[in-house]
Amino acid sequence: MKKITKKLLCVLLTAVLLSSSVLPTFAMSEFAWDFVWESADAKAGLIMFVGSDETERNFTWYTPDENTPEVTVSSDILMLDAETFTGTSEKATEGDYVNHVTIKGLEYGTTYYYKATSGDYESAVYSFTTASENEFKAVYMTDIHITDDEENPDSLCTTSFNFNNTLEDVLARESDVSLILSAGDQATEGRAAEYKSFTASPILKSIPVATTIGNHDRKGAEYKTFANLPNEYEEAMISSYVGDNYWFVKGDVLFLVADTNNASGADHYEFVKKAVEANPDVKWRVMMAHHDLYSGRIPHRESENELLRLMWAPIVDEFAIDLVLLGHSHFYTVSNVLYNNRNAAPFAPEMVDPAGTVYMVSCSINRPRTEEELGLNEEIGFDYLTMEPTYNILTCNEDSITVESYEVGAEDAFNSFTIKKTTNEGGHEYEESYFASIFNNLVRKIGTIYALFNNIGRYNDLKEDGFDVNFFDCLLGK
Ligand SMILES: [Fe+2]
Ligand SMILES: [Fe+2]
Repeated sequence: MKKITKKLLCVLLTAVLLSSSVLPTFAMSEFAWDFVWESADAKAGLIMFVGSDETERNFTWYTPDENTPEVTVSSDILMLDAETFTGTSEKATEGDYVNHVTIKGLEYGTTYYYKATSGDYESAVYSFTTASENEFKAVYMTDIHITDDEENPDSLCTTSFNFNNTLEDVLARESDVSLILSAGDQATEGRAAEYKSFTASPILKSIPVATTIGNHDRKGAEYKTFANLPNEYEEAMISSYVGDNYWFVKGDVLFLVADTNNASGADHYEFVKKAVEANPDVKWRVMMAHHDLYSGRIPHRESENELLRLMWAPIVDEFAIDLVLLGHSHFYTVSNVLYNNRNAAPFAPEMVDPAGTVYMVSCSINRPRTEEELGLNEEIGFDYLTMEPTYNILTCNEDSITVESYEVGAEDAFNSFTIKKTTNEGGHEYEESYFASIFNNLVRKIGTIYALFNNIGRYNDLKEDGFDVNFFDCLLGK
């Protein structure tokens, strides 16, 4: 009897959580999570990534065999007049086949239903709603750290549960969030099991995610096949082997996502230049990367950050990036308005046409820190110490970007600020002297040479860890 009741409950919960077109807006218990965790779609690692713009979505999932993957999508709940998109299937680095499909032609402000199929695998039917043309809400979080720990066999399930719990808190507060920004260290060891566990939340099948390569994602090689992202900068001379920079547009925002594991400054400069030139009429520019640049607090990181600032600050200034979203330190900080690597104006709850850029770092979801080992850099305008998982709701429209930062379960935001621009340029102005131009170019080129040597070290590490990698692929990071 007990067995039958449990089976019935399993069927009911799976039906409600997986086949429903309605996202859960309640906190899932650990008991309910066990059923999600054991579901076929969680095992397959089905996830929806961002597309090039709001009219596209990218999908990834894993299967034991190679088949032509398909995603069938319709604006009708009964899947009438559905359109089917096919994609590619390739051997993942750790055994399975990874399936990638892109769907196109979506309309603004519309709810769609879809299912993914490949060979014997058929997902449940999920839904998603596209944002309106000019405004949207996104959530930014970082250092989720799904962890495959041999000494703690439950760690994948527990860290994935904590991630889902955070996403549920987001939706309970703002049900119309239509983008998840994750600023790197999605995984801790960069293994396939971690990326599959990353996808377990049903919410990641209904809200697209934009991920970034963290240093922990680069410990393995799986991120390269897992992530299915748009407009990747494949022309780069040197990449870091696990993926490329990429961009996408949502509303009036150009998102530039950079791999700061890769020191190739010449490539980063060209990537940002080309992405901006391809989107001249998009008013806002938001960059996302992993390494924290300005947050301080961890002494041995400061020398690394100084080098990163030398390379990145001139690029951010020249291309008038409004906001930079970072991770890595696991400490929450928001900078003052910075230009030329210095304070241009103090941080304030409202910054109108700021003459520079605001850089922020959010805390970690599964690995919070509060030890304060080093004072904050003088560029930091606001900081907050907590052991709770935190996230940030971004409200983006033509005139402003507002960021509200929350601890999971807390009623009120612990910080919020708004950046307003009254023109496309806002307060950004860029001047580069002849000598600064020569120096900045030199720094980028030295970075590119350094990236080559760094990739040789990476090749040796991957070989030692038993990955079958080609030396020349690894040298160029392709
Ligand atoms: Fe991290
Ligand atoms: Fe990191």
